[in-house]
Amino acid sequence: MRIAFFDSGIGGITVLHEAMRKLPAEDFLYFADTLHVPYGSKTLEEVNHYVKESVHTIMQEEIKALVVACNTATSAAIGELRQMYSIPIIGMEPAVKPAVAKSLEEGRRVLVFATPLTLSQSKYTDLVARVDDHSIVDSFPLPELVQYCENLNFDPEEIGQYFKAKLAPLDLSQYGTVVLGCTHYPYYRKILHDLLPPHIELIDGSHGTVKRLITVMREQNLLGSQGTNDIKFICSGSQMEYVDKMKQALAFLQNGQ
Ligand code: DGL
Repeated sequence: MRIAFFDSGIGGITVLHEAMRKLPAEDFLYFADTLHVPYGSKTLEEVNHYVKESVHTIMQEEIKALVVACNTATSAAIGELRQMYSIPIIGMEPAVKPAVAKSLEEGRRVLVFATPLTLSQSKYTDLVARVDDHSIVDSFPLPELVQYCENLNFDPEEIGQYFKAKLAPLDLSQYGTVVLGCTHYPYYRKILHDLLPPHIELIDGSHGTVKRLITVMREQNLLGSQGTNDIKFICSGSQMEYVDKMKQALAFLQNGQ
């Protein structure tokens, strides 16, 4: 049985990539809701519906756990999904807590990048209210970035210009950490690293999510030993072309971007 990963598009491949490194004896399934990407600029009701529809499709496959490798989908439907299905379901949320701990130590602020929908949901605002006692967290939507990513546009020049224009109103020197709160954003880790002040640490949720996945699977005795990191790619829209795109995105990450 496979471990399934789900995202609106190729974003969740950043989490799958981490899982492949940590779980070499597992096989995976990756589902992208290509008919409805991007989620981040849609309404909560729309995304909630698309997520449930997608997970219904995924559950027809032979899977033993599901990672909702999308912050937006998690905030829109994770509670309902857990009530609907009995296999372990791991969600994602922006890694605000470790970022606050780190920035506080340094007397600096935290900048959270995520989709507009993630940032507007109570799951996120409650999280910030819980961990941001010193009011050092600033939230910043980057709605266009998901589309660049879906177009496999990783051009340092063009994307660098985009970031420069977007971030121009901010005084970046005051930040100690930047949280990549959307699974599409880690594709731009290197471009951001080159562009932001060198003291800023970029934090994304892949590591913590895969750690949690392993803990839960170990507790439930679900870890495999016979897998070979085989991946079955499926999506809600036109198959072949997009499957190719998913493979290219994974290769981009495997080449060390
Ligand atoms: N990758 C998704 C996330 O982590 C969102 C992308 C989208 O807007 O569809 O939030």
